[in-house]
Amino acid sequence: MTSVAIVGATGAVGSTMLSILEERDFPMSSLRLMASHRSAGRTVETRTGQVTIEDVASADPSGIDIALFSAGGDRSRAYAPKFAAAGATVIDNSSAFRMDPEVPLVVANVNDDAIKAHKGIVANPNCTTMALMMPAGPLHRLAGLESVVATSYQSVSGSGHTGMTQLAKEIDHFGANRDGLVTGDWVDPGGDLYARPIGYNVLPQAGSFTDAGYTDEEWKLVNETRKILGRPDIKVEPTCVRVPVMVGHGVAASMWFDRPVDLEEALEVLGDAPGLQLWDDAKVPTPLDSAGIDDVLVGRVRETVGTPGGISLFAVGDNLRKGAALNAVELAELLLQ
Ligand code: A2P
Repeated sequence: MTSVAIVGATGAVGSTMLSILEERDFPMSSLRLMASHRSAGRTVETRTGQVTIEDVASADPSGIDIALFSAGGDRSRAYAPKFAAAGATVIDNSSAFRMDPEVPLVVANVNDDAIKAHKGIVANPNCTTMALMMPAGPLHRLAGLESVVATSYQSVSGSGHTGMTQLAKEIDHFGANRDGLVTGDWVDPGGDLYARPIGYNVLPQAGSFTDAGYTDEEWKLVNETRKILGRPDIKVEPTCVRVPVMVGHGVAASMWFDRPVDLEEALEVLGDAPGLQLWDDAKVPTPLDSAGIDDVLVGRVRETVGTPGGISLFAVGDNLRKGAALNAVELAELLLQ
């Protein structure tokens, strides 16, 4: 039996971690829930009884076997090394350690073996990268991924509870004056979470601008893809877009390999891949279909037409589950094996 802690337990991902641990009957001897001082002292109903939330800043990490962190990069940087030094294996959902060469970056069912090299911290990839890796991993094993052009359609729950509240408010705000959406006579609802309104809109910016005109989300897609697939020369052309969707990150990707791949072999490999459901054009996969389920949905699989020999597809996954909490729990299960 394993002693487990969730850091960020009150958040969108942290609370999903708790439900997934319970759904999967993860063998826990004890469970501790941690968040900020704002939540400390509140109680949460769990399958094994009420748990009182602790302030991570003052919590004693001794005795914890596995700590699932999803409280933002600053908290991971501040507390994950302390938890690891006290003997816990930290599975960190933030971007704090993902590119650290000492820290494995693992997508369950894609590069499981990498977890064996951990030294106390394991990193959970970015939610968009995760959706792409589920089909790209098996295709990479088939023919060696050489390049990918990927455009994401990222839901607001990627920004936590704040993102979901903002979208709901803006849908109400704009819905009250639908004519304005057509004539351009709309009123900016304000708020500083995103650069532009997200209700009834599409933002060709997810994350913050960093180098060369790309956002940090886009660089994650580049760097994490290379690290997870173990090939630093994969060419990745990313565009990350925020869409007015509550849950479910989609990625439209065109991929080319060391050799031409035809539709039949791509479908065969994708059809056999664990954690992935292959949908045909009779019912294309959407974020709404992905919400609340574990599998990443893949559809629109076709051969590339402009530069032949590649495969284009659309993948969509629940960013709170496979994109974050589920993968973290799957990594915890790998640690127990
Ligand atoms: P809290 O609810 O106490 O603020 P989300 O991404 O859904 O907004 O969730 C963020 C999670 O990270 C929450 O559990 C939140 O706890 C936690 N968190 C945010 N800031 C801090 C902090 N300074 N110290 C500890 N936990 C934090």
